[in-house]
Amino acid sequence: MVKIGLLGYGTVGTGTAEIILDASGRNNLLREIEIAKVGVRTLDKPRSPQLPTGVLTTDLSAIVCDPEIDIVVELLGGLEPSRSLILKAINNGKHIVTANKAVIARHGEEIYTAANQAGVYVLLEGAVGGGIPVIKPLKQSLGVNRIQTVIGIVNGTTNYILTQMTQEGADFAEVLAEAQKLGYAEADPTADVDGYDAADKIAILAAIAFNDRIKREDIPCEGIRQIDATDISYADSLDFVIKLLAIAKANPDDDSLQVRVHPTLVAKDHPLANVNDVYNAILVEGEPLGQVMFFGPGAGKGATASAVVSDIINIVGILQTSQTTQKLDPLLRCPHEHFTQLTPIAEIVTRFYARFLCRDVPGVIGHLGTSFGNHNVSLESVVQIGFRNNLAEIVVVTHDVREGNFREALKEIESLESIDSIPSILRVL
Ligand code: HSE
Repeated sequence: MVKIGLLGYGTVGTGTAEIILDASGRNNLLREIEIAKVGVRTLDKPRSPQLPTGVLTTDLSAIVCDPEIDIVVELLGGLEPSRSLILKAINNGKHIVTANKAVIARHGEEIYTAANQAGVYVLLEGAVGGGIPVIKPLKQSLGVNRIQTVIGIVNGTTNYILTQMTQEGADFAEVLAEAQKLGYAEADPTADVDGYDAADKIAILAAIAFNDRIKREDIPCEGIRQIDATDISYADSLDFVIKLLAIAKANPDDDSLQVRVHPTLVAKDHPLANVNDVYNAILVEGEPLGQVMFFGPGAGKGATASAVVSDIINIVGILQTSQTTQKLDPLLRCPHEHFTQLTPIAEIVTRFYARFLCRDVPGVIGHLGTSFGNHNVSLESVVQIGFRNNLAEIVVVTHDVREGNFREALKEIESLESIDSIPSILRVL
């Protein structure tokens, strides 16, 4: 039997136990697993599924040092004590399974360096996309491809909010309050709505897809708080939807990588445009395969537990077949030794959508066009749509432009007499 210790018995922890304790019809390796210890904050709560006496403990530190335990399954979330417990477990020779994207995205270097030294695995299928298999496919099934882009809708909360705003024409604050009532958004929604959760996830996906470490703190990250029902409606009339995308893209001209999170206009016929509500999807493009999209439930008890237990049986299989060798499976171990170079945001090339409020004087569109032209920004369409408080509202969509040039053009435009304000600037996929 392979003995595992769970750190945490909340939603994903209980889902994990439910799968392991109900092995019928599932992979036979589940029958080789014994839940030896489960670390919880307090013992005086009713627990389901129930565990044999002595399994539950409040001493999490003892679990990671227990010589009987082979695999530590960290399901606490957050940075501490998760980081310290994971490191302690690794130093005690335990393999790690975790669904904790934040601790891996921010402390991955320390954790994987320790793991590689100790000769143990740190597997994290549950950390990105909940139940969607994407980590192992990127490492294994897609491993022979030269990856060009990974674009994900990897945060269910914000996807739910944007879907509701699109379908109901409602404002952000209204939908967020409703989502909190329904339990789709946390009381403190910061990590989701400001894009931090998505940034953690794309840091992990990009490291695997592009085979190098990613500095989480260098990822430019914009959330969805500023998205207005007006922009969703204009985007709709231009045949776009607005999605919070996490993007990692290889630069064709050098060795650098673009990694970013921001709300983005997505053409309605793009495969990501129809990923709605709390669903997640990850679109991977590589050579020679072309595009492949992973779609499914990005969170939730059963979905995330499915991913966690898949990692556990992976390690169980390895332990069973290679008890005598210290060599790590090359498809599973972390091979990274260097940080990759991230492209400065000013250097990325993308299309933009911008909405201007202008004084209704002759030549406004000409002034805009001249300023964009001065900075080599080429416009795909200019639409004067209407009036708002006696100001003319003009929406433009650019062709692909260097972001630095676009920002310079905006600076010039802001100083024009005829321009009142620029309420919205969004990138277009
Ligand atoms: N808060 C996350 C989301 C949960 O909304 O997708 C899964 O990481």
